[in-house]
Amino acid sequence: MKVLIATSKPFAVAAVEGIREILASAGHEIALLEKYEGQAALVEAARDADAMIVRSDLVTSEVIAAAPRLKIVVRAGAGYDNIDLAAASARGVVVMNTPGQNANAVAELAVAMMIFMARNQFTPSTGSELSGKTLGIQAFGNVGRLVGAKAAALGMKVKAVDPFLSDADIIRGGAEPVATVEQLYASCDYVSIHVPATPQTVGSIGYELISSMPKGALLLNNARKEVIYEKGLEKALEERPDLKYAADVAPDSIASLKEKFGLRVFSTPKKMGAQSAEANVNAGLAAARQICSFFSDGDTHFQVNR
Ligand code: 3PG
Repeated sequence: MKVLIATSKPFAVAAVEGIREILASAGHEIALLEKYEGQAALVEAARDADAMIVRSDLVTSEVIAAAPRLKIVVRAGAGYDNIDLAAASARGVVVMNTPGQNANAVAELAVAMMIFMARNQFTPSTGSELSGKTLGIQAFGNVGRLVGAKAAALGMKVKAVDPFLSDADIIRGGAEPVATVEQLYASCDYVSIHVPATPQTVGSIGYELISSMPKGALLLNNARKEVIYEKGLEKALEERPDLKYAADVAPDSIASLKEKFGLRVFSTPKKMGAQSAEANVNAGLAAARQICSFFSDGDTHFQVNR
């Protein structure tokens, strides 16, 4: 089978070598499309692909329609909002993710960003410490749990909310369960967002939640920019000069936010939470293995479009 690795943000070299080895030893052919610009290149490369490994690359209905042989797409990572699931399902294309494989990298970046913001973006002005503060984790999945464990080791009190988990699950994961998202925001000095982008979450974090945060709070978004209602964020930052916002996914209005709020706002130049060699190897190799088992045994364990 021909497997296309399509990554506009390439994997580390070691990950690509590992993926090649796994696929080649199972008799698959590999095509590599890296650092491409524009959808046309992806559409073109997909034409003769039986399988695809992608990251945040946009697997649109156009890409799927252009790939008549396509049977499986594996998103080497957690969030699959970049894949048109309806178009894939309509064509019988299996879509999988590789849950947890890049979670530690994202969690480490979240902790780094909390310290960075607490120390005023490493300017010499007086900052604050994480120890003794309360961290609220919105969605206690693979990333959220790791952020919680690392924050607890730094002396933070950790709370979490997750509509898909019981209180017992959250306690087992090392956090104090909170009943509602509203309660989480109102009671935490730091809130770290780890929800996927879904119709329920997009635009769901706005003025009410953000302005309910305690004095000096930081909102941290290493999930998806779309979950923030940006006008609400801006209004909250305007009214509350003590609040801060940091994101691994630049808001559309980043230029104006930075101009208005200076060091109270930060975003990475390009989404880099999962951008560690280890995460690339873990997620990339898992994706390659999942493709091999799919073709050899019909294994659909990590399918997300059932
Ligand atoms: C994910 O959903 O796994 C993360 O957001 C990482 O995305 P990336 O592979 O595009 O860096």
